[in-house]
Amino acid sequence: MTCGPSRRNEKGMTHASSPSARPLRVTRAQAPLSGSIRVPGDKSISHRALMFASLARGETHITGLLEGEDVLRTAAAMRALGADVTQNAPGDWRVSGLGIGKLREPSDVLDMGNSGTAARLLSGILASHGMVSVMTGDASLRRRPMKRVMDPLAGTGATFMAREGGRLPMAIAGLAEPRPLDYRLPVASAQVKSAVLLAGLNAQGQTRVEEPVATRDHTENMLRHFGAHVKVEETPQGGRVIVLQGRPDLVARDVVVPGDPSSAAFPIVAALLVPGADIVISTVGLNPLRTGLFITLQEMGAQLEVTNVRTEGGELVGDLHVRASSLKGVTVPADRAPSMIDEYPILAVAAAYASGVSRFCGVEELRVKESDRLAATVALLENNGVKTAVEGDDLVVYGTDNAIPGGGVVQTHMDHRLAMSASVLGLVAQNPVEIDDTAFIDTSFPGYLQLMNSLGAGFAL
Ligand code: S3P
Repeated sequence: MTCGPSRRNEKGMTHASSPSARPLRVTRAQAPLSGSIRVPGDKSISHRALMFASLARGETHITGLLEGEDVLRTAAAMRALGADVTQNAPGDWRVSGLGIGKLREPSDVLDMGNSGTAARLLSGILASHGMVSVMTGDASLRRRPMKRVMDPLAGTGATFMAREGGRLPMAIAGLAEPRPLDYRLPVASAQVKSAVLLAGLNAQGQTRVEEPVATRDHTENMLRHFGAHVKVEETPQGGRVIVLQGRPDLVARDVVVPGDPSSAAFPIVAALLVPGADIVISTVGLNPLRTGLFITLQEMGAQLEVTNVRTEGGELVGDLHVRASSLKGVTVPADRAPSMIDEYPILAVAAAYASGVSRFCGVEELRVKESDRLAATVALLENNGVKTAVEGDDLVVYGTDNAIPGGGVVQTHMDHRLAMSASVLGLVAQNPVEIDDTAFIDTSFPGYLQLMNSLGAGFAL
């Protein structure tokens, strides 16, 4: 069970708790989960739809938009920058864009809440407009590294001033005539790639980004959808080179947002673990750069069938049929990490319930998510009687063969995915699990507890 060479690392974080916490005590599921659901829209695609539509000429109609806190922050920011962003009905939005380079200086600080994606992507837009802006976020986001975008974006000629260690709040003096960038990503990050490409929209000439491992390509796909010229080439080492032609004429186009595979992950794992469960999740995004979890679960022995695969709004989608399964341990290679980077906490819960040992290789990026997810996932499992180890940048989980003791208190550290992972663990643990705060679930999956209850989870609300 070895992983091969590991990649570079960044500093971990400390934590704080929410002022209006919503604790939850989860007891073992009393009946099999069953039924058919849809999960909310994809978070990555939703942020991009609002941003790109604001930079396009004309009116874009978005359906299936995720109305989680993170995306609502992006909507508010684009409004503050002069775009007309309105909700017609739940999930149904209209955006009147201003065109590339035409956004207006915001009159107040842009608060991106809990959202790293909103903050990083927006940095690329702000650096490439001739205006001064200030960005902040909640306690979690203010601890996360922004240097990873500040460093490449400084190459445009924009000036950044941030707190110690490149943390928010941050002031940006952008340029109306930014220089185009040629950048090789030191970490596999779709957010950094997207920030560079967004800055390239308003730069004369070609912007070039090279990524060592392919990361989610929603930015490239959606830029093309809006009319930009984007060329993508695979490198012999399994990476990609993306070349964007600057100053394209972005024109409004309708966007259909698929269900978020990262949100589907929670009901999927719950259904795999709760005895007798049998559920269907319809219209889930199946972009191949997002489906690492599904492949991994299938390797573990999951009865996870993908049916009715089709293309909707330019993205591959399908329906997932999930049945309770007997899972065995798995080794996840490091180069699969970008395609499932948000799914490790819930995969760790599946590995804890499985038989045998699992190793997740090269997961150092987990240290700089909404929480230090490596430390927080270890604590989630250990506090509930599951043995783990961190070996270098690998996480090792010792499966309990369907016997997670539970009985622990889980600290979620303002991290939605930790809270949802803990809730699934509680559904199959032998003793009740106390979650300190479920409020942050609303950042990516509003209505999660209710939707799970519609399948029979029995969360006490
Ligand atoms: C995202 C990229 C990933 C992911 C995040 C969404 C995006 O972050 O964790 O939830 O939409 O581009 P990194 O780029 O930091 O890996």
